[in-house]
Amino acid sequence: MGGRALIQQVLLVDELQQWVEQYRSKASEGKCASYIPALYRTDPNQLGICIIEPTGKMHMAGDWEAPFTMQSISKVISFIAACCYHGIPYVLDRVDVEPTGDAFNSIIRLEMNKPGKPFNPMINAGAITTSSLLPGQTPDHKLRYLYAFFSKITGVTPTVNEEVFLSEWENSHRNRALAHYLKDTGYLACEVEDALEVYLTQCSIEVTTEQIALIGLILALDGFHPMRNEQVLPKDVVRLAKALMLTCGMYDASGKFAANVGLPAKSGVSGGIMTLVPPNRKPHSPLQDGCGIGIFGPSIDGCGNSVAGVSLLKHIAQEWDVSIF
Ligand code: DON
Repeated sequence: MGGRALIQQVLLVDELQQWVEQYRSKASEGKCASYIPALYRTDPNQLGICIIEPTGKMHMAGDWEAPFTMQSISKVISFIAACCYHGIPYVLDRVDVEPTGDAFNSIIRLEMNKPGKPFNPMINAGAITTSSLLPGQTPDHKLRYLYAFFSKITGVTPTVNEEVFLSEWENSHRNRALAHYLKDTGYLACEVEDALEVYLTQCSIEVTTEQIALIGLILALDGFHPMRNEQVLPKDVVRLAKALMLTCGMYDASGKFAANVGLPAKSGVSGGIMTLVPPNRKPHSPLQDGCGIGIFGPSIDGCGNSVAGVSLLKHIAQEWDVSIF
């Protein structure tokens, strides 16, 4: 690596470390998700980031190695997996692509809009439907398909945090209500308890910021895995997933996130955010070849998004000029 490039890489990490420490204290403006007891026990002051460039170069700072469960970030993977198996039209017959502006677990629009098709795959109603569409007759088969899919993208065999799974399984009354409603209207492709088992297990897959940054990178490059030099996901499916991340990925804060950060992103209640910078031609941006970004900051706001994570991303977007707009 040339001297100038090396200096730039070092500067990026220096800046990242400084910004992580600057935004760590933002945790006090939110709290860890309390409706899943196992998540509430997490140290709220953690903040970590991992950025991966197409060359494989990684920039890491803070608690980037801390494991956390994917939660709603998994909705992107299951949606892509269902589209790859069935084709886009089949999936979009069963789940729409419209933002709601409602909370991620809201029930209200299912009954207000006949015939009750879930609005998008990033909210719980749409994600439970997507999980039910994964191939296989049993939760085990559906999950095996999803695990294989996850491994194909990340190169890592997924592990499930059983404590988080059980903690949510026992407290999932609202998701059960959503699934029963979807079963009644004919949108659920399997039994209620089976769909919930798949959905809550995928939410409990443990990752670090490195894995979600890698997935983000592959999405940034329209499904191309640059280190393996292989198209691992179809371009049309990835483009659709990115449009959904931009319009619905941060729930009822998606508009603000698009305005303030300007990147497709998906959050989870455990405090993860998966986002990406597509290759761009901005001469002053250090990330003009694109990158994937993984963030972990478990203290979340009322919309379910990491408080410190969103602040850090807003700062990065401004300083490094990475907004897609
Ligand atoms: O269904 C739930 O409530 C969780 N397992 C996932 C929700 C979630 O991550 C929403 N995110 N911000």
